Amino acid sequence: MNTLHFILNDHEVTTNEHSATTVLDFVRRSAHLTGTKEGCREGDCGACTVLIGELQTLDGKPHVRYISANSCLLPLGEMHGKHIVTVEGVTLAAQSAENPTQPALNLVQQAMVDTGGTQCGFCTPGFIVSMTGYSLTAQNLTAEGMTQAIDGNVCRCTGYASIKRAIDRIIPAISGVEAQHNRIPTLVTKGLLPEYFSTIATRLLALQNRINTEVLLDGDELAHTHDFTIGGGTDLFVQKPEALLKSRVRLLGPPKVPIMPVHEEEGWCVMDARTPVAAFLASPLIKKHIPQMQYFLTLFASTPIRNRATLGGNINNASPIGDMTAILLALNTELTLLAANGTERTIELRNYYKGYKTLDRAKDELVETLRFKLSDRGTVFNYEKVSRRTYLDIASVNTALQLRLAGEIITEAHASAGGVAAIPLYLSKTAQYLVGKHLSTETFREAASIAVSETSPISDARGTADYKRLLLRQLFFAHALDLFPERVDARELLAME
Ligand SMILES: Cc1cc2nc3c(=O)[nH]c(=O)nc-3n(C[C@H](O)[C@H](O)[C@H](O)COP(=O)(O)OP(=O)(O)OC[C@H]3O[C@@H](n4cnc5c(N)ncnc54)[C@H](O)[C@@H]3O)c2cc1C
Ligand code: FES
Ligand code: FES
Repeated sequence: MNTLHFILNDHEVTTNEHSATTVLDFVRRSAHLTGTKEGCREGDCGACTVLIGELQTLDGKPHVRYISANSCLLPLGEMHGKHIVTVEGVTLAAQSAENPTQPALNLVQQAMVDTGGTQCGFCTPGFIVSMTGYSLTAQNLTAEGMTQAIDGNVCRCTGYASIKRAIDRIIPAISGVEAQHNRIPTLVTKGLLPEYFSTIATRLLALQNRINTEVLLDGDELAHTHDFTIGGGTDLFVQKPEALLKSRVRLLGPPKVPIMPVHEEEGWCVMDARTPVAAFLASPLIKKHIPQMQYFLTLFASTPIRNRATLGGNINNASPIGDMTAILLALNTELTLLAANGTERTIELRNYYKGYKTLDRAKDELVETLRFKLSDRGTVFNYEKVSRRTYLDIASVNTALQLRLAGEIITEAHASAGGVAAIPLYLSKTAQYLVGKHLSTETFREAASIAVSETSPISDARGTADYKRLLLRQLFFAHALDLFPERVDARELLAME
């Protein structure tokens, strides 16, 4: 059994609880901090949102980087050597002489009170924590950005207008603060954070110097004798929370190189499989080569889920509708797998899926890295997803397309489709057909019909098989219209059917 050490709000904690205990259960049941609410336990409502602070070094100085996360899907084992912040931890120390034990509201909490941003109050702690987290971490503080940061918080009472009014009060009150890494003193002065936040970097450094931060396994000494490997846990803690608690688990933890988990190597984009979707998006390399990815992946879950959900977890949970999986398939990604005996092998993602949730991976193998060729000027990429709700919903059908062009001729093509077969599909016949073709309405009409012929959808809660075929065809048309509006005629495309 591991002994875990971390800082919870202003207090250092040592515990022997199982690594797969959720942070939600720990803070509510063991630490008796019941401000963090338990709603869905599936990452959907945001009532359980906490902040995780991780020590980093910037310009030779210790610095704490915070992210928001759903504590119902967060393994306690990963908090070893870190700072957990709950809603109790963002409240200011007592300030009134009449009521010296009553904590004072911070700037975010006060704005929520003043604008009627809280009614029944169940969702409120989650909103407060997400907004405080945004204030700590966003590069530029804007009302729009803070509104996006609460995309994982659901409120059944307010209709959100009063919460938006609270945001409109908070942003001007904190505008003009420094870059993220030395913002804390100003946020303390402005009453957004309690004073103890200024001490956390040095306290975490002292803590980490005392402890072994490599404790990642519960219940066994040998890393390859585990029952479950946990990446971000956003899938496993929804599917198997009880089994995890009875098992030996291995926590993969953050990428090995936390600052540069996504980097360039001889024209390839190389990614640590532990990279969370949010870090993938924040990578300068992705911003430069596939700028549209910022929009595509706002359709992936919510901010706290993207902060934790890893690329490795997305491809290995083998969901036929994974967003990253569809994108990585069309980027023609390769995986490097590492076995327990140190043997490495490389496989194309398109050959990784053998059947429903069946992978070409031995039990002792882990996906270590993923890589795809970086696009040049002649390459275009597009992603389309249809779900029942625009945000915070998984796809009914999704598809990605990458084309390399020489003038108006397609010289290389990769296409994927999700939700239309038992596995995430690489559309090999469609890709083959596209190579050598001229950019035209006729080319995309034919490609769409080949794409549909490659699929074998089933009818389920997300739609009938026929509906999914129709969706894929329309999404293929959407690729064409988004990428080549001047070469493809929408009316002609649809009229030809
Ligand atoms: C509210 C909510 C919304 C969601 N919305 C979306 C969405 O819009 N789009 C989407 O695609 N997904 C969505 N998901 C699903 C999930 O978040 C993603 O699939 C995520 O990428 C899984 O990554 P993880 O690291 O959290 O996986 P984990 O839960 O840690 O692991 C999933 C599986 O992968 C294995 N695994 C993890 N890393 C490795 C590795 N390096 N090598 C080998 N095996 C590994 C684990 O053992 C496990 O079997 C959502 C989930 C929730 C809870
Ligand atoms: S309890 Fe709903 S997201 Fe965690
Ligand atoms: S105030 Fe009741 S759910 Fe938001």
